Amino acid sequence: MQVGILTVSDRGARGEYEDRSGPLLAEIVQRDTPWPVSHQDIVPDEQALIANKLIEWCNAGVNLILTSGGTGFAPRDITPEATKSVIERETPGIAEALRAESLKITRHAMLSRAVAGIRGQTLIINLPGSPKAVRENMDVLLPILPHALELLTEAPNSESQHRQV
Ligand code: MTE
Repeated sequence: MQVGILTVSDRGARGEYEDRSGPLLAEIVQRDTPWPVSHQDIVPDEQALIANKLIEWCNAGVNLILTSGGTGFAPRDITPEATKSVIERETPGIAEALRAESLKITRHAMLSRAVAGIRGQTLIINLPGSPKAVRENMDVLLPILPHALELLTEAPNSESQHRQV
């Protein structure tokens, strides 16, 4: 099991400001999960660059990709569209839960257009850009990640065992 963390930010990619959300995500994954962060990067808000990076990491065997940023209404925000262009199966329950729980904290949560979905054996989840939002969303996500990744990466013939439970 490997985790990739992708920060999406024009200013961050230009080095105009220090990315705090990517390192925070890495810290949370390292502290609260057994999985190593094998890939970490920052890209500008360009749909093709985001999509290419996601595909590259999926092909490299990353099982969970967490993106941060570019999910809002600003003209350059394009992370959900890039994600939708590479996923094969959408996982709406994850995005719904993140927004529902976040709405209990801030009404601004409804301004996130974040999506989540599966490409092969990789789960890709969009998170908002601010460190505060990252922390709050990870509190919601962490409890379901082990079972989600277990299901995603299980051998096809173990399916019948699940059905009996
Ligand atoms: N979700 C949580 N839990 N906490 C937050 O502070 N901020 C919101 C929202 N989701 C927020 C949140 C805000 S202000 C915006 S604009 C959207 O996420 C999109 O953020 P992004 O453009 O940085 O991706």
